[in-house]
Parts: sequence; C-alpha cells; structure tokens
Amino acid sequence: HQDNEPYRTGYHFQPPKNWINDPNGPLIYKGIYHLFYQYNPKGVVWGNIVWAHSTSTDLVNWTPHDAAIFPSQPSDINGCWSGSATILPSGKPVILYTGINPQNQQVQNLAFPKNLSDPFLREWVKVPQNPLMAPTQANHINASSFRDPTTAWLGPDKRWRVIIGSKQNQRGLAILYRSKDFLHWVKAKHPLHSAKKTGMWECPDFFPVSIHGQNGLDSSENGPAVKHVLKASLDNTKHEYYTIGTYNIDKDIYIPDKGSVESDSGLRYDYGKFYASKTFFDSSKNRRILWGWINESSSVEGDIKKGWSGLQAIPRTLWLAKSGKQLVQWPVQEIEKLRGKTVKLPSTVLKGGSVREVVGVTAAQADVEITFGISDFKKAEVLDPSWTDPQLLCGQKSATVKGSLGPFGLYVLASKGLKEYTAVFYRIFKANNKYVVLLCSDQSRSSLNKDNDKTTYGAFVKVDPLREKLSLRSLISL
Ligand code: FRU
Repeated sequence: HQDNEPYRTGYHFQPPKNWINDPNGPLIYKGIYHLFYQYNPKGVVWGNIVWAHSTSTDLVNWTPHDAAIFPSQPSDINGCWSGSATILPSGKPVILYTGINPQNQQVQNLAFPKNLSDPFLREWVKVPQNPLMAPTQANHINASSFRDPTTAWLGPDKRWRVIIGSKQNQRGLAILYRSKDFLHWVKAKHPLHSAKKTGMWECPDFFPVSIHGQNGLDSSENGPAVKHVLKASLDNTKHEYYTIGTYNIDKDIYIPDKGSVESDSGLRYDYGKFYASKTFFDSSKNRRILWGWINESSSVEGDIKKGWSGLQAIPRTLWLAKSGKQLVQWPVQEIEKLRGKTVKLPSTVLKGGSVREVVGVTAAQADVEITFGISDFKKAEVLDPSWTDPQLLCGQKSATVKGSLGPFGLYVLASKGLKEYTAVFYRIFKANNKYVVLLCSDQSRSSLNKDNDKTTYGAFVKVDPLREKLSLRSLISL
C-alpha cells in the first residue's frame, strides 16, 4: 500500500476504509482472538455506529468479518455503542453494549452468539428482553450519560456485577448493577466508585491484578493476592486515568489506595493519543491485554482524502509493578514475529549535538531498542519547581533546545535533510538530591502539513537513573 497510501500504518490494526473508534468486547474463544470496534460503515467521520468485527490467532494478523452488532431493534436503532464481552462459566461468551433508542437515550443491551460451534462467532443474537438497563425517572440516571458497560464479574454470592460509565453534575460515576441470571439487572444503591469534578466517565474498566507476578487474572478473581484497577476515560479532557486499590466485595465498593486519583496527578496508561481503552483476560496465555484507540491526527479534509480515520494501538500485556503503585505494560510478545532483518549498532559515546544515522533498516517499519548509560550526572540542570506539567515542559524544551543531560533519544520517521521527523527523547534534571527523568515525543516537526495535529506529548518516568539504565523501545510503523 505504500505507493498509493503512504500514511497507512504497516502493522497496527486498521480497516481498509472509514471511521473507527473504541475497541469493543475483546475476547478469546476456542483459541481465536476477537476484536470488535466502533465503526462507521458509511463514512470517514463518526456516525452510523456498528460493531465491526475481526479475528486473529496471533493478535497481529487479522481477518475481517461482517459487522457483528448493528442497529436492528428499538433499543439500539440509533447506534450500537461501546461495550464488553464476558465469558460465562460455561465458556459461552456474551456481550453487553450500549444502544441508542428512538428517544436517543442510552440503554444497555445483551447479545449472544448464534452458533457456539462457529469459532469465528460471526452471528450475534439480541435477547428480546432488551434493553436490560435503562434510565428512568425513579433511578435518576442521566439518559445521555449512561454508557459503556464493562466485562461483568461474579461474586461469591453467585451474583453478577457490571459497571456503567456515567456522571451526576460533574461527578464521574461507575454505576453498579447486579444480576443472578445476566438478564435481570438491578441497580445498586451506591456506585462502585465516583469522583467529583471528573465529568462523564466513558469506557470504564475494572479488573484484578496479581500482587506477585505478571500473570493476568479472570475478572471474577479476588482475595488477598489481588489488587484492583479502575480506569475511566474522561470525556472532558479525552485523557484516561486509572487508580489501583481494593475492591471490598461485601460492601461492593472500590477504594483507591492513598494518593491514587482520577485526574491531573493521576496514573495514565499512555501520555499520547490513546483513549477508550479496554483490557481482557487472555486465558490461553494467562495474561491481561490492553487495547486502545488512537484518534487520527489529520484534519477531516485530510481524512476524506485518505478515506480512513483512526486505528487501534498495538495490544499490550499489562501487570502490576513490584512497587504495587503503578502498572507496567509491554507490547504483546507476538509483535516480535514481525521483526525481519536485525541491525545492531555497537555501543558508542554520544557527544552533545551529535546525530548517528542507523543504516540498513527500513526506517518506516522498525522495532528499535536502545539503552543509554549516563556518565556525568552532576551536570544535570536543576528542575525549576514550577515545571510541574511534563507535557508543557516537553513543548517548551523541544528537541532542538539544548540541555545539559539531554535531549538524547531517537529521530523517528526522519525524512531526507530532517525536513520531517518526530523526536522521542529523554532529559534528566536534578531536584533536591534526586534525579527526575522526562520522556518526550516531540511531534512539532512531524509533518509539513499545517492541518495535522502536532501536539507534543511527554511524561515524567518513575525510574531512578542512578540505579537503572534508561532504555527506549520504539515501534515505528508506516
Ligand atoms: C468513547 C465513546 C463511548 C461511546 C462510543 C460511541 O470514545 O464516546 O463513550 O460508547 O464512543 O462511539
């Protein structure tokens, strides 16, 4: 595709044409991975939303199928919005999703596979009882802020639980429902969790992680060896935040650990374009995998010209860090199958202002690993106490601004004469007896096209560079 469609990616998930957004209902069934996603079959901007469907045996190569869920009954006639799959104890997958009804209210619907012996689960049947959860006068649910059901989990009392994203005024909510049979759902008196001033919580995700080890867990797992993670996608800022905490199943409430919050200083999976993410438990390889949507950076006119908009990020395995204070993610190991020719650079001393070209690779499709050793920490510049916003700092101290320890990193997708490039780099600062590491992705020179979004992204990285080497892995794909 490189000749006629130079901007399509080489190995990210994207359909041949049209608009895509959120990943939906990821699951594994009979050894086959399923990915559904929000899709406009008729155009390149958001609208006419259905659940498009693809399957894979390796999370890398995908086979498209017909749309799995599309408007067909009053409870979803104006759109089939985001939702999640749950694997029942019998092994049967079911899907809960948000439908938009004739009054444009958001309601929750259930669908199950028509034929369980089809490993591709190509046809889905909606239950006649839909909608199973709906806003009413009595339950005080905001009909335009009630969407994106999670994977359900089973308590020791044999009742299912699910949360749905919502808000009340500007308080973000994870509304909790319970059910004995997956068909009759009763709203709990209290939300599982809520946080003031965070606005609408889109695409909540709630799952257990092991305290010891990198293995993933089924969503119904709980106990002393487990912590829980709650993620919300904040509609106000289009940023996602997660907290780590404890799920008290007797009271059915989730309590984030001290210092764990949903906004500004909170934890994030990603500091770039990444939204409406969702995890699932891969029972075949005992891992939890994270999918997320990457919104397009070109303008609507640009999207119309290209014929498509949006892609899914490379799936990542995720687990709890040894500290218990943040999650760790790594691209699924399967992506390494795509590595072709290997090019190794001997280690070298990087002098200030120097650039080394990596020759012998296809720069448009590469998987790069670099390790940096730092010799002279003393010269690190002092971090001004007012530099608290890493993204802003990355913008102010962009790749061309000289520092004392940094910028050092990678020019990605650099064109001849460095007319276009994206600089991914570190800077190290000194701040009262410790070192602070900043990681930036400077997009300001990433395109000569003025209509493209070229926001620079960045974050402080929680490592002590005195004790650990800094490394960088970059998956580059055009
Ligand atoms: C998030 C979102 C969801 C909604 C879906 C509609 O990007 O707005 O809240 O279900 O997209 O396509």
